[in-house]
Amino acid sequence: MNMNQYVTGAVIKELREKNRMTQLQLAEKLSVSDKCISKWETGKGYPDITLLEPLASALKVSVTELMSGTSVTNSNVSANMLRSHLYVCPVCGNVIHSMGEAVIHCHGIALTPASEDEADNRHAIIVERVEDEYYVRVDHEMTKQHYISFLAAVSDDRIQMVKLYPEGDAAARFRTSGVRKVICYCNRDGTFVKRIC
Ligand SMILES: [Fe+2]
Repeated sequence: MNMNQYVTGAVIKELREKNRMTQLQLAEKLSVSDKCISKWETGKGYPDITLLEPLASALKVSVTELMSGTSVTNSNVSANMLRSHLYVCPVCGNVIHSMGEAVIHCHGIALTPASEDEADNRHAIIVERVEDEYYVRVDHEMTKQHYISFLAAVSDDRIQMVKLYPEGDAAARFRTSGVRKVICYCNRDGTFVKRIC
């Protein structure tokens, strides 16, 4: 789903049912007929743009969530940094960190949270402890086409992130304090994680 698409009938139906509302109940909130709601839900028509805000509020989501078809439920976003998410834009490499779930767009693309696969052979993350720092490196090429674009070290309460560049070293230093996992992001292959015990 992305922002280029207008609100869909499937999303309206799903959210209406989630809110335990009948078509008639939703119709009354918007001062439209229940036939109208049925038309939207079956893809035979779209709600007028002036109805998007009232529709979103009746369905208890933001307009962005309504349009993207992604609902966000953040109960306690500050609970733990280890459960936070990184979003990487495939066009510009922009990295966004969110403590909870979010609907994030960059370059018109709805970003999905970076997956956290265990590091594979080609992206092995080597962590060495040097006094009160972790020296982290990845044995990986650093060409413009294929490179490690950032490394991050995540603790319960903080994330340390270092941006890397082609032709540079695929390495960074982090304070050891409470670091539980190290994340490496390859522009071609995605995100990899090494957990620290
Ligand atoms: Fe790679």
